[in-house]
Amino acid sequence: MARNRSIFVCGGCGYQSPRWLGRCPDCGAWNTLQEEAPSGPGMVADRVPLPQVVTLGEVEAGLERRIVTGMGEFDRVLGGGLVPGSLVLVGGEPGVGKSTLLLQALLRMEAAGISTMLVSGEESAAQVKLRARRLEGPIDGLRLVGETRCEPVMACIEEHAPAVCVVDSVQTLWSDSLSSAPGSVSQIREATGQLLRVAKGKGITLVLVGHVTKSGDLAGPRVLEHMVDAVLAFDGERGQPYRILRSVKNRFGSTNEVGVFQMTGGGLIDVPDPSSLFLQEGSSSPGASVLAAMEGTRCLLAEVQALVTPSGLAMPRRVTRGVDHNRLAMIVAVLSRRAGMGLGECDIFANIAGG
Ligand SMILES: Nc1ncnc2c1ncn2[C@@H]1O[C@H](COP(=O)(O)OP(=O)(O)OP(=O)(O)O)[C@@H](O)[C@H]1O
Ligand SMILES: [Mg+2]
Repeated sequence: MARNRSIFVCGGCGYQSPRWLGRCPDCGAWNTLQEEAPSGPGMVADRVPLPQVVTLGEVEAGLERRIVTGMGEFDRVLGGGLVPGSLVLVGGEPGVGKSTLLLQALLRMEAAGISTMLVSGEESAAQVKLRARRLEGPIDGLRLVGETRCEPVMACIEEHAPAVCVVDSVQTLWSDSLSSAPGSVSQIREATGQLLRVAKGKGITLVLVGHVTKSGDLAGPRVLEHMVDAVLAFDGERGQPYRILRSVKNRFGSTNEVGVFQMTGGGLIDVPDPSSLFLQEGSSSPGASVLAAMEGTRCLLAEVQALVTPSGLAMPRRVTRGVDHNRLAMIVAVLSRRAGMGLGECDIFANIAGG
């Protein structure tokens, strides 16, 4: 049997090489070449059955129905719920609450009679149960698979055909056909490709959990984001109980919607009126003003606080929290030059209340 030779592909520009190289000759990036599964033998055109061509008028599509997850803010960001057969990626920093959010959504869907499944590569079944116990509602009906090899996971999903399946996380899946380590670009790409086929072929909605790298990108470069239908980013500030869910890409809805949650001992709860969080009491104090910002279909009120004090330093300080540093520098420059305010010798602090 002829040996299937792997190829090496640059994660940045897609350059292909038969051997590993330290530096991509095309884009010049270092250490971006990753091993990929060899592609199948070239098909002879005349032996391939031609795909059917249809006009849009012949396509049967019912009214768009969505699977409501029961987590109000999650549904809002998705554009009204999960679209059947779609692939959704939820990314976020470690410990932000991705597993909690999706476990809660699964439990609520299960309680509403939607068949669900959780593929957990990160936590054991016992750990998932302990975690589920602290959430409200019945937990016994949720089906769980503790497996990280791609092929058995796909077979299992196809066999049980749940309406919604969560894979936590896509970085833990690995395929035998590749020699690279789980979590590498080629493994992620392979796993997502297989998941995509299952989702589109069987009409199963898949939600993938993705890790975020130090620089804030989803691990496994752009490839992953291109393959899925929607990319949601879940983040929060250290020490604050609030979590924000944003849509980075959505093929079936707006990307302007923002969902706000609060992390509590009993799991995440929806915050349908975030303005009340961001507005601190007694906002009539000097230096504080309220700003109205449109986020999707909702108007959010936020309090901007500023403090100017004479500085004893040669280089006065400009400290910001929640405000762009360059933006502050520009406003200060305009005020100094045009409004005649001598801010050059003052320390300036700007903050958005509530983080
Ligand atoms: N009993 C509790 N009370 C309050 N908050 C809790 C409790 N248990 C867990 N948490 C919160 O849940 C977070 C962990 O959430 P979760 O495991 O869902 O995050 P994750 O994004 O899946 O993390 P990872 O990337 O490590 O899988 C903790 O950081 C903590 O803030
Ligand atoms: Mg997790």
